[in-house]
Amino acid sequence: MSRSAHPAGPRHADVLPEGHYSAPPADLNTLDHKVWAQTVGRDADGVVTVGGVDVRRLAEEFGTPAYILDEADFRARARAWRTAFGPDADVFYAGKAFLSRAVVRWLDEEGLNLDVCSGGELATALSAGMPAERIAFHGNNKSTDEIRRAVEAGVGRIVLDSFQEIVRVAHIAQSLGKRQKAQIRITVGVEAHTHEFIATAHEDQKFGIPLAGGQAAEAVRRALQLDGLELIGIHSHIGSQIFDMSGFEVAAHRVVGLLKDVRDEHGVELPEIDLGGGLGIAYTSDDDPREPHEIAKALTEIVTRECEAARLRTPRISVEPGRAIVGPTAFTLYEVGTVKPLDGLRTYVSVDGGMSDNIRTALYDAEYSVALVSRTSTAEPMLARVVGKHCESGDIVVKDAFLPADLAPGDLIAVPATGAYCRSMASNYNHVLRPPVVAVRDGEARVIVRRETEEDLLRLDVG
Ligand code: LLP
Repeated sequence: MSRSAHPAGPRHADVLPEGHYSAPPADLNTLDHKVWAQTVGRDADGVVTVGGVDVRRLAEEFGTPAYILDEADFRARARAWRTAFGPDADVFYAGKAFLSRAVVRWLDEEGLNLDVCSGGELATALSAGMPAERIAFHGNNKSTDEIRRAVEAGVGRIVLDSFQEIVRVAHIAQSLGKRQKAQIRITVGVEAHTHEFIATAHEDQKFGIPLAGGQAAEAVRRALQLDGLELIGIHSHIGSQIFDMSGFEVAAHRVVGLLKDVRDEHGVELPEIDLGGGLGIAYTSDDDPREPHEIAKALTEIVTRECEAARLRTPRISVEPGRAIVGPTAFTLYEVGTVKPLDGLRTYVSVDGGMSDNIRTALYDAEYSVALVSRTSTAEPMLARVVGKHCESGDIVVKDAFLPADLAPGDLIAVPATGAYCRSMASNYNHVLRPPVVAVRDGEARVIVRRETEEDLLRLDVG
């Protein structure tokens, strides 16, 4: 995830420290649409607008920090995935990236399905009216209660993650007089080129059943024998924030290999394969993500080719993008509280949120960009570190980025590409209140997840 060290030059501080940053952009006021949502721009006064709404108005009306989500961009990205894969495949949005009832309705309207991985996500999906048969239920340790609720609701598939779960789901379905559609999640032994914590297809981790040593084949054998299950396919998710398609190629090759073995052993052609999510997005201008149509073409070609070689009917493909749909659609809007230049090092810019609204920098060493959005500036670039208000020094939102040297308390700055895994992983650390999610579209802004209040905190604290 690292970028080249910046060649030191006399910018604000005489000598710049080593760090993971590129040279400052020629113009700090320019907004690169690789990282900013599609409707983001600057108005005639230089103030950033999104969906036709001025960020100063958003800050005034909804407070800061706030996640600001571009609804038109979300819908466009969802539609692009749907269109790219066409009617013979399914796109399941991965709700873990960010889920709310409004999002569920948008997905439903745009023709996407939904992947959930907990009772809470399932409840959100059902309460917003997502048809149960378009929901896939994931997780490596679903509780008996969660499984029962999913089966009762009639979810379209449960993705089985262990030998115990195969039996557990079959048993629960049978006790409810049902036959549950299911896929088996396997680990194909691919080393995805991403952060260790978000790579999931190598064997030494908690997800799935290893293909190696015949374990996945044994799982299929058992599942096919159980009356409570209708085994519809094989699932593989190799990890997240991946740019290189070769991992998916190897995964598809190995999944099809298993389908072939299943056909040879049982005379059954499983009708579906799911290749998971994990497609990377641009967090900084240095990242170059693939477009959905390229991904769809590449995955469909690999599967078709492999199936032809194995003389199998091509199964229905599904994918589960989360980050690639919601990630680029939102930015976090902060107000600058203090600006602290440390000579020869960098300037610490403290904002009114931090690791409670974006844990990704601390957890994965993630890189973000940042811009001054309440005005433009012609001041020199200064090397800045955007930090939060929490009581620990690892509370960093943007490690190294350039901001104008005249940045001052009261300015609004925004961190783009925070739509995925920021609100969904937000915490109450230090009893800081989780920010709202505000959706903007066609000049209108509305809260889709409200800001947490001190009453919310105290309600849980029963004394
Ligand atoms: N399908 C399955 C089975 C998954 O486990 C995941 C993500 C996805 C799909 C969606 O992956 P995406 O397209 O969003 O990369 N908290 C981490 C990411 C963890 C992802 C967990 N599973 C982060 O902030 O980067």
